[in-house]
Amino acid sequence: MSRLDAFINRMSAQRDILNHVARDLGLPPEGDVLEVGLGNGRTYSHLRELFADRRVIAFDRAMNAHRSAAPHEDDFIIGEINETGQKFAGSGAALVHADIGTGYPDKDAITLSWLPQMIVDMLGSGGYAVSGLPLAHPQLGEIPRLPSVNEGRYYVYRKL
Ligand SMILES: C[S@@+](CC[C@H](N)C(=O)[O-])C[C@H]1O[C@@H](n2cnc3c(N)ncnc32)[C@H](O)[C@@H]1O
Repeated sequence: MSRLDAFINRMSAQRDILNHVARDLGLPPEGDVLEVGLGNGRTYSHLRELFADRRVIAFDRAMNAHRSAAPHEDDFIIGEINETGQKFAGSGAALVHADIGTGYPDKDAITLSWLPQMIVDMLGSGGYAVSGLPLAHPQLGEIPRLPSVNEGRYYVYRKL
């Protein structure tokens, strides 16, 4: 598969899963939405549309979002997420979306040494984790894959 096809596949999987959480599964009644890896802000703008009644807080080591999608300064946490995310442990988030995979197994292995536990700590009970990297953690139950999402492309879990 070309890298272009793989990218399109990943983006449509991400959008389908986030729409599924919003429209079919439903968030727990309380809790913020956390966007782990703001990037250009495309997903942030989608999260704001889907979850207009929630505060959406974004994390990144740098602000590179398009002006039209940039979070208010109070809703942007700058720095290395394995450090900045610690402050959100116990915050009872309703949804954490993380798109910080690189496609390099060695780099992703380092991220996976801290990301699953950090997301579990951020989420409240019944909250959802949506991730481009698989999150192996005993407190995360995987939600069945949508027919439109290829195996191993994007993942959704509910905190038990
Ligand atoms: C693939 S992009 C996210 C794309 C985003 N969903 C969008 O709509 O544009 C990943 C982002 O995560 C950030 N990132 C990755 N790992 C990080 C880390 N450990 N700490 C802080 N930022 C990180 C990168 O700087 C990059 O902007």
